[in-house]
Amino acid sequence: MMKSDVTNLSGFIPVRGMRDFLPNEARRIRHVEELSRKLARLYLYDEVITPILESHELLAAKAGEEIRHRMYTFWDLGGREVALRPEFTPSIARLVATKMKTYPKPMRLFCVGSLYRYDEPQYGRYREFWQANYELIGSSRPEADAETLMLTNDLIQQLGLRNYWLKIGHVGILRGVMSQEGVDEQKQSRIMQLLDKKEWDTALKLIKEIGVSAQCVKTLEEIFALKGQDAFQVLERVRKNLKDYDTAIAATNNLREIIELIKKGGASFDMSIEPGFARGLEYYTGLIFEPYISGMDIALGGGGRYDRLIELFGGEPTPAVGVALGIDRLALAAKEQKIRHKAAIQRRVLIIPIRDELSSEAVGLSLRLRREGISAEVEVMGRTVSRALQDADRRQVTHVVILGPDELKEEMVVLRDMKNRKQKTVKMEQLSEAILKDAH
Ligand code: HAM
Repeated sequence: MMKSDVTNLSGFIPVRGMRDFLPNEARRIRHVEELSRKLARLYLYDEVITPILESHELLAAKAGEEIRHRMYTFWDLGGREVALRPEFTPSIARLVATKMKTYPKPMRLFCVGSLYRYDEPQYGRYREFWQANYELIGSSRPEADAETLMLTNDLIQQLGLRNYWLKIGHVGILRGVMSQEGVDEQKQSRIMQLLDKKEWDTALKLIKEIGVSAQCVKTLEEIFALKGQDAFQVLERVRKNLKDYDTAIAATNNLREIIELIKKGGASFDMSIEPGFARGLEYYTGLIFEPYISGMDIALGGGGRYDRLIELFGGEPTPAVGVALGIDRLALAAKEQKIRHKAAIQRRVLIIPIRDELSSEAVGLSLRLRREGISAEVEVMGRTVSRALQDADRRQVTHVVILGPDELKEEMVVLRDMKNRKQKTVKMEQLSEAILKDAH
């Protein structure tokens, strides 16, 4: 037998954690993306496009241990240490600190695109995923925080999701207590990381090892245990627990103001106030939140206030707050709740010439229909009319136009409505009107 020197290049599948999106799945993802763009327009967020590849140092600076560890990092041929972006926020902060330095505040910036984290692939967790990201730059006022919460609620609502709630906390409460006890920022971040992973006992153990006061341990224990849907009641209990931890009390008051704005403004959504909740990213300084739906134990998004990141990248001290909604997870949630959205293409026309000689007429007609905004395709498989009609049914074609020599002589075509299976002869010049008139 002759030995083949050709490597077998068949049967490839995507690299672990990467996915192909077939038309139905791609449509679901793009539908969420389109909604997120619509929302950006409604809330007046301008889109910016930043590179997928950034300096590792920029992305790693405040990413937190977990994400830092999971970045796709490598050296490019020029010897630079670079990484695929695991999130948008550092890129936006970089822009605001440099090229957009002189832009008037507030700045509302929107990005959408793919991100990369070497996470363990599982339900709703992928190594390539998409976010719709909104950042409101330049305001430290609670109105700005309230806006990101309302925007998050609006996107979930517009998608039609039910039984969802926002988990809400404030980094300033725990950090306030720890700072007053002299715990340095690095140790605080370590503790916040543990809390993000819901490792409360380990966090408490670490706190005790650091050597804080007994009152501090007790206060933190109580805060970890507190949570509830009645925001004002939970916050009142937090305040009582905090006794004279002044910065933590100020943080609690800030959270109360934000929630008051939302409630008085009439945006109503379920919330769970959890003062002991933390997020993995290290740059947060104030409000933090994550939306959830029941039955799905993974966050649909995440956001919060980060008032020091832009300054860290060499910009003016600039307060900022933002949120990233996970497009994949929102699409997955919509699928779980069996939410159907209207197909983007409502009318789909197939043009079938009954003879080869009429192909140029078919091509010409398809061009004309498309110019009039009607999605059209020409039969390109050389099928007979009856075979082409069977195929049209399978592919959800709504209208078929049949071109025959006799009708064409009279400037007429046969228009078949695939839904009610009725066909009629219409004048060529009235074809678009006849197609558009049908309610599909
Ligand atoms: P994050 O919580 O790391 O926050 O990510 C936000 C959302 O992205 C998550 O809630 C989830 O929906 C989605 N996501 C994250 N990792 C994966 C994954 N491996 N597979 C699928 N979806 C995923 C941020 O990224 C911050 N930059 C948010 C922010 C913006 N904070 C202020 N401004």
